[in-house]
Amino acid sequence: MTRTPVFAANWKMHIGPHDAAAFMRAFLAQYAPHGDRTVIMFPPALSLCVVAESARDRDDILLGVQNIFRESKGAFTGENSALMARQAGARFALVGHSERRRIFGETDSDTARKCAQAWAAELVPMLCVGETIAERERGETESVVLRQLSAGVSELEPTQIASMLIAYEPVWAIGTGCTASPDDAATVHAVIRAALRGQVGDRAARVPILYGGSVNEGNARALLAAPNVDGLLVGGACLDPSTWARIILT
Ligand code: PGA
Repeated sequence: MTRTPVFAANWKMHIGPHDAAAFMRAFLAQYAPHGDRTVIMFPPALSLCVVAESARDRDDILLGVQNIFRESKGAFTGENSALMARQAGARFALVGHSERRRIFGETDSDTARKCAQAWAAELVPMLCVGETIAERERGETESVVLRQLSAGVSELEPTQIASMLIAYEPVWAIGTGCTASPDDAATVHAVIRAALRGQVGDRAARVPILYGGSVNEGNARALLAAPNVDGLLVGGACLDPSTWARIILT
């Protein structure tokens, strides 16, 4: 089965509302709609409305939020709910990015709650999984990825699992310039696909599994050509509108 490749941009804590408008003007001028690619932008929450407004005539550009809180509302100063993100224009929510896990102490049970909260607000979760360098050196890549995957989807119905996205992001490759080889990515993606098959049967074939970690113009094509690599989640290299457009057109 062919899946439309997904190109996702994670701006992290870069590009505020003012700069987002300029970024989008430059990017949209260089990237015409292509029916054979899906583009998802994950700006910081504060920039979401500006990006949504900039892309209002471009229904090929989909938006997501980088994080949501695990509860739907209440006295949680500083947090954003899935519903707020949805109202701001998001259709997707990143869940369990390794920076959230490592810096903010997010646990597997937090990711489970967040995936459920996302669906409750009609946001599609993109669950991030991936091993650290120490876990990789101990030969634990597969067990870590499988644990994070099964925990993350543990509160979801099979139909929800079959309609979400997964991103494999080895922690040692994020922002380091060390990219997983296409073979390495293919190996882990196959493990993820098999686990999804166990959860949702044949519908696992349609779940996009993205690779992330030091993706750039030079390696995007080879990574995308690897079996079971259905898209790319890009951090550093998506912060320049021209580079981002070239990666999508790779
Ligand atoms: P990177 O980040 O492309 O800068 O490695 C990817 C990510 O963290 O999603």
